[in-house]
Amino acid sequence: MWNTWLTRTLNIDLPILGAPMGGRAGGALAGQVTAAGGLGMIGAARYATPEWIAEQLAVIREAAGEDAPLAFGLQTWSLGEGELLDAVLAANPTLVSLSFGDPAPYVQRVKESGAVVISQINSIEDLREVEAAGVDAVVAQGAEAGGHTGRIATLPLLQEILRATELPVLAAGGIGSGAGLAAVLAAGAQGALVGTALLASPETVGPEYAVPALLEAGSADTVYTDVFDKARHQPWPTRWFGRALTNDFTSRWHDGDGAGPSSGDEEQVSAAYDGNDPAQGVVYAGQVAGLVDTARPAREVVASIASDAEARLRAVAGVLD
Ligand SMILES: Cc1cc2nc3c(=O)[nH]c(=O)nc-3n(C[C@H](O)[C@H](O)[C@H](O)COP(=O)(O)O)c2cc1C
Repeated sequence: MWNTWLTRTLNIDLPILGAPMGGRAGGALAGQVTAAGGLGMIGAARYATPEWIAEQLAVIREAAGEDAPLAFGLQTWSLGEGELLDAVLAANPTLVSLSFGDPAPYVQRVKESGAVVISQINSIEDLREVEAAGVDAVVAQGAEAGGHTGRIATLPLLQEILRATELPVLAAGGIGSGAGLAAVLAAGAQGALVGTALLASPETVGPEYAVPALLEAGSADTVYTDVFDKARHQPWPTRWFGRALTNDFTSRWHDGDGAGPSSGDEEQVSAAYDGNDPAQGVVYAGQVAGLVDTARPAREVVASIASDAEARLRAVAGVLD
């Protein structure tokens, strides 16, 4: 019934991709999103290994069946010669996201494998870079997104990107309900990535304190910060900070909303960090944290976002005479 570039191209029921979330979205979460009718992405962070990919494949096949379509999200800036990409392509994925960095050195390899290649982008300059690299579609990822992202909010960025490209455009950042999905589809997006809204699901991986912290958090309880990259020696290019829940640790190194770099150099910050302590440990999450107040299975979250969006889009015609 849904009919967008995304559903047609991937042959899926819903215009929803489970966002790749390094450290949180493995095979179990991705499998549930896929089983619900979207396509779940496994988030392969910089520190992921080919062995980890193999383990996640076993998990996703258990969750979504032997023939389940596979999708992965990689962090382009960290790919080097591309060993991790090769491990991903060996699994014959349907879709690969190459985000955060120029995908040009890798796009051909992905296309030759037969996978659809998309990139999350944060500015018009990023759009021009990934267009030149030959990606199949772009994702306008706004600043309200959880995890690493840019500085322009989803709605302004989406409007700017839609106006500037012939490529199919998806939206990410702040889409946590049917209202959000309906809004970006009505604007012209061909689908959406959902991340934070899935993070209270039992299928996520990560530290035990992450789900309770998210359930507790409101929409104002996030910060755009480099402090956890410093703490964990993750050499992210500084144009991408990450959006995380505020806690004692972020308050210690930031005044205000974290729009600028954290105080303290990498050595100081790292020496003070204990990732096992809930008051300090990182929980990357976006501003839709305020919408996440129950720990529901991912399958249920995806199904309810889709059915609510459908109802809203059917009703929206009524705003015109
Ligand atoms: C915990 C977490 C980890 C993330 N890790 C990655 C990643 O490894 N690669 C990537 O392309 N995007 C990553 N993202 C960004 C998501 O792909 C997506 O853009 C974002 O979750 C969408 O916004 P939302 O959180 O408001 O739904 C991450 C997001 C979160 C919340």
